[in-house]
Amino acid sequence: GKDGYRHYMEKELHEHPSVIGQTLRRMLDPATRQVVLPELPFDLATIPRITMTACGSAYYAGLVGRHWLESIARLPTDADVASELRYREPPLPEGGLGLLISQSGETADTLAALRGLHGAGQHVLSVLNVPESTMARESDAVLETVAGPEICVASTKAFTAQLCVLACLAIATGTARGTLGEERAGALTAALTDLPGRASELLTLREDIQAMAQVVAEARDVLYLGRGAAFPIALEGALKLKEISYIHAEAYAAGEMKHGPIALIDRTVPVVAIAPGGRLFEKTASNLQEAKARGARILAFTDADGAPKLLNIAEQIVVVPTVDPFVAPILHAIAVQMLAYEVALLKGTDVDQPRNLAKSVTVE
Ligand code: F6R
Repeated sequence: GKDGYRHYMEKELHEHPSVIGQTLRRMLDPATRQVVLPELPFDLATIPRITMTACGSAYYAGLVGRHWLESIARLPTDADVASELRYREPPLPEGGLGLLISQSGETADTLAALRGLHGAGQHVLSVLNVPESTMARESDAVLETVAGPEICVASTKAFTAQLCVLACLAIATGTARGTLGEERAGALTAALTDLPGRASELLTLREDIQAMAQVVAEARDVLYLGRGAAFPIALEGALKLKEISYIHAEAYAAGEMKHGPIALIDRTVPVVAIAPGGRLFEKTASNLQEAKARGARILAFTDADGAPKLLNIAEQIVVVPTVDPFVAPILHAIAVQMLAYEVALLKGTDVDQPRNLAKSVTVE
């Protein structure tokens, strides 16, 4: 049942801290601060290239994973949605790794891409929430998200669990390839270990997010902006808003705004910014300033470092708990999911069963 929550989505949002904890516990030894993956039938140290593929939210999780794999493990990583990858003919290196991500393990396009990657001589590693699924049976190895059953059609806790697994995969790969030093690896695992507590803190910010939702709920179109690993979180926020509130939302890499979408900007098109502190914060802030100068109402997710710098730019700010920039996308993902939920409540839509959508897409 819904355990007293109004919707499965609300219940599943509140499961984030425990799901993150359970998923990490499978792979992370808090005593040694080391990532220990299950035995893999290939060597992470010598994989020449990763081809990541998935659909929808799972694909966005993979895009964050690509940032981590490239920056931490220095491993070339290609990413494409499964419905495109399966009909592309990318040249793939002998012994490369296909990385599949799926909550259900039954998504038709992802499964077809899996078979295509196998056919092209790739090892196949899947990040799955259902260990008995078809994709689990057909993969060479599986990394499990321990999210439990997800009833709400829109994915929430499975997405953050996928991010946790991908973060651990990036740390393990960086360690295996010698691109990640022991000290930094320890700091990254400590940041992950700390996440359930920070996620619980974030869940208490509901009133701030409700205030933001009031503005979004009145809009016909909403623009989500982010840079770096925050860009896929903008994509996730826009997708979730479309799915459950039926408000048109688009996500753009913040630096792309001036190449077109800035023409849309006026007071009626709110801009939701995913702007965690870190290397790219100032760049994002200046893009927001440009949008504000054209009349946009800026609604920002940032942290305690970023908040003072956005005071004169953003109409509303949600101060997400401060964490290592490495794990910030995971917290911001929860925040944008919470925003979509609050907007859907205001719109009175069928949150758990949005029109035209199915939980598992087993046809092409
Ligand atoms: C979005 C959502 C979908 C799924 C996508 C992939 O909220 O739920 O975009 O992420 O259909 O499904 P799985 O992960 O089962 O392959």
